Amino acid sequence: MSNTVSKPGLDPIEHASRDEIESLQLERLKWTLAHAYQHVPHYKQAFDAAGVHPDDLKQLSDIAKFPFTTKQDLRDNYPFGMFAVPREQVARVHASSGTTGKPTVVGYTAQDLDNWASLVARSIRAAGGKPGDIVHVAYGYGLFTGGLGAHYGAERLGCTVIPMSGGQTEKQVQLISDFRPDIIMVTPSYFCNIVEEQRRQGIDPRQSSLRIGIFGAEPWTAQMRQDIETEAAIDAVDIYGLSEVMGPGVASECVETKDGPVVWEDHFYAEIVDPETGLPVADGESGELVFTSLTKEAMPIVRYRTRDLTRLLAPTSRSMRRIGKITGRSDDMLIVRGVNLFPTQVEEQVLKIAQLAPHYQLVLTRSGHLDDLEILTEVRDEFASLAEAEREALGKQLQHAVKSYIGVTARVRVADCGFVERTLTGKARRVVDKRPR
Ligand code: DLL
Repeated sequence: MSNTVSKPGLDPIEHASRDEIESLQLERLKWTLAHAYQHVPHYKQAFDAAGVHPDDLKQLSDIAKFPFTTKQDLRDNYPFGMFAVPREQVARVHASSGTTGKPTVVGYTAQDLDNWASLVARSIRAAGGKPGDIVHVAYGYGLFTGGLGAHYGAERLGCTVIPMSGGQTEKQVQLISDFRPDIIMVTPSYFCNIVEEQRRQGIDPRQSSLRIGIFGAEPWTAQMRQDIETEAAIDAVDIYGLSEVMGPGVASECVETKDGPVVWEDHFYAEIVDPETGLPVADGESGELVFTSLTKEAMPIVRYRTRDLTRLLAPTSRSMRRIGKITGRSDDMLIVRGVNLFPTQVEEQVLKIAQLAPHYQLVLTRSGHLDDLEILTEVRDEFASLAEAEREALGKQLQHAVKSYIGVTARVRVADCGFVERTLTGKARRVVDKRPR
């Protein structure tokens, strides 16, 4: 039974009652645990070692008895050891490029790909997209899940897809002018490059055909949303996902509320745990996001530790719970002279200064026993002619804000537009840690 008035166009489960959602989750969770245990040697060993069996799951909270899965487990089973179906039934693989070592490989059956496309279609619709819209996909195509994940979702919704992929910023701008897309799917940092390039070509970003930007694949702050929405006159919504769990579309934000990505709970079971103890925390409390897939055939995943830090929030525009903005990854947290710091905290301060562009990088070095933090920033193109003294004053202003809001002493460099590294993958590299290990 549905507890809300019918909402045309939505999947019925998006506005089902919590009871309905939870009983579907329980049924699917039982299936996933049994499937993983029977078909993936890693899970059989891990469950046996922890003294648990799939039959021990009687209610959703029993999931806490089961062991976590980490990126290392995926690496140890490289390349296809986590697959639960014969390789012949795997219709596609993707891989995430680890910074070190071998990539993490993930696989999908035809049914998994079908579910993924439906969830990305649902995500685009939640963002305000509709059949017939033109969708410009500037997430990278290839082993990265961003491009193809967005692509098939947009097709599934009935959109016209422009499979541009990442890079070639001038061409991105040309295609946006000529093909007049309604929606762009891209990392927020790369979208800032596109806007800059539009300006450079004398195009007013606010006059472009784009109505909606569906941004994800990296952390971005509320300030960044505001900045982008003002600069480009679009609705900027947040899409979350990770390859190990599926790819883009694990959770996605509704344009009418913009209050954090809705976890598509009919396909994923989310928990928040204390990153230190691994114990579950209550909804609303911060911790590390952990996911168990509910329908994945090729590569079921049980209690995957995402390293992403956030909170689970009560449902609003859908019946499913939301996640708050990701503050950062636990492995992105920097400790500088004893102070814990996430790049997003610096982003908030950078974007409060109107003359600074939304590009920044934190460079860490060590002199003697002391850590040294330098924040690289850029002036916006329209402030390119600022005198050296004025730039220095902006640097001082940022330095002061970082000291008083975050508690860290940093040097600030205010360089010309284009100085801060732009990556080919579209995911900005916010931290360069040159400290000796
Ligand atoms: O980035 C999948 C994706 C593609 C999501 C396109 C959204 C859009 P990975 O390369 O495996 O997969 O990286 C996953 O990126 O654990 C987070 O740390 C980060 N991330 C993804 N989306 C968001 C977001 C894709 N909306 C990792 N906000 C995740 C903050 C995000 N961080």
